[in-house]
Amino acid sequence: MLSNSITNGINGYANIPGDKSISHRSIIIPSISNGVSEISNILKSEDVLHTLNAFKAMGVKVEENNNKLIIFGKGLNSLKKPEGKIYLGNSGTSARLLTGLLSSQKFDTVLTGDKSLSNRPMARISDPLSKMNARINSSNGRLPLTIEGSELKCTKIDLDIPSAQIKSGLLLASLNTKGETIITENKITRDHTEIMLQSFEAKIDVRKNNNKKLIKIIGKKELVSKNIDVPNDLSSSAFFIVSALINNNSKVVLKNINNNPTRNGLLIALEKMGAKIKLLNKRISNNENICDIEVLSSNLNGCELGPEIADLMIDEYPILAVAASFASTPSIFRGLKELRVKESDRLKLIILNLQKCGVNCKTENDDLFIYPSKNYEINSNIIQTDFDHRIAMAFCVMATKIGPLKINDSESINTSFPNFKSELNKLGGRII
Ligand code: S3P
Repeated sequence: MLSNSITNGINGYANIPGDKSISHRSIIIPSISNGVSEISNILKSEDVLHTLNAFKAMGVKVEENNNKLIIFGKGLNSLKKPEGKIYLGNSGTSARLLTGLLSSQKFDTVLTGDKSLSNRPMARISDPLSKMNARINSSNGRLPLTIEGSELKCTKIDLDIPSAQIKSGLLLASLNTKGETIITENKITRDHTEIMLQSFEAKIDVRKNNNKKLIKIIGKKELVSKNIDVPNDLSSSAFFIVSALINNNSKVVLKNINNNPTRNGLLIALEKMGAKIKLLNKRISNNENICDIEVLSSNLNGCELGPEIADLMIDEYPILAVAASFASTPSIFRGLKELRVKESDRLKLIILNLQKCGVNCKTENDDLFIYPSKNYEINSNIIQTDFDHRIAMAFCVMATKIGPLKINDSESINTSFPNFKSELNKLGGRII
């Protein structure tokens, strides 16, 4: 894919797809509930389709009607053993959440994935699950994982790694486990699983205490199916927000965007940088915060962000780094260790590719430093993405200012935002 520079700004309404995290959960939780759920606006991207296919392979009946997905839940304990291995492509969320869920089923499964997913750490989910007596085998803490379904024991688990995927895997395991499982999250991460489980009438109690969260869940309580309207994805919106901010004469409006306070770090960071962003029509749907977002071209300044905000915007650092490259002063983003274990080593690729674009930047430990300049001299216009969708989209946006950039392996964008290219081009982008 080749992304070119633009001169007339990014203007109009962008159709942002459904939220990826909520879409995965909108398949998993209805599938193990009692009754029928209608799901509107689900994201139809490769990652989410892998989750859907997994549940179909485990006997869940799914129909499509008027663009809605109709899921006939099987209850907590009636999934059936799939015929072969479950292939999850690039999707870390599917892998971590399903590992938890499947470890408390009554059959064995094998989870596999693509090259990138097969390099990502899975001990972070299998280790805490083993405290519940889960039996999960892998040769080196990576996929393929062989999960022996069994009766788990409830226990107390303290989570030190800030990861909604780990927390959610444990919550799904505890749903089918007798007694009370207690999970302490030492750093608060996105809470879509807790929100959805509450609305599906799980016996779950969530308390916040300073920067920690205590979740108590009593298992073996059947869930009650509900309909879900998936809001649009703030992480996908981020590419349009930054495109509008850094290009003159831009005005973009994004509708129905999820701005859950455990996900909205990007909006807080950009506000600090002087971005002209308005959140309009704030409302609540399915217990998730939703709003429309209006963005105008802005003169950004740099900012310093501490590690405490990283968990609220962990997926947004590639595009934030692009925004910071066009600010009037330097930026420092601290505490980005988790970026090293995403779809790629994102910290490495942010630095590598910004440097190709002529941006002076560095990492020290896990902190990222960006020293913007008025003019960039491109050293190489071939962007290395390692099949990471967010690196690919971030550098498509970078190119709107300094292009053309050739984005290698850009088909990864289909994992989260299949219409990205046509939407950006509709608003003034020039991607071919
Ligand atoms: C996700 C959690 C985050 C995020 C990922 C989606 C989720 O991962 O990066 O894109 O849906 O729970 P971690 O839990 O590994 O931080």
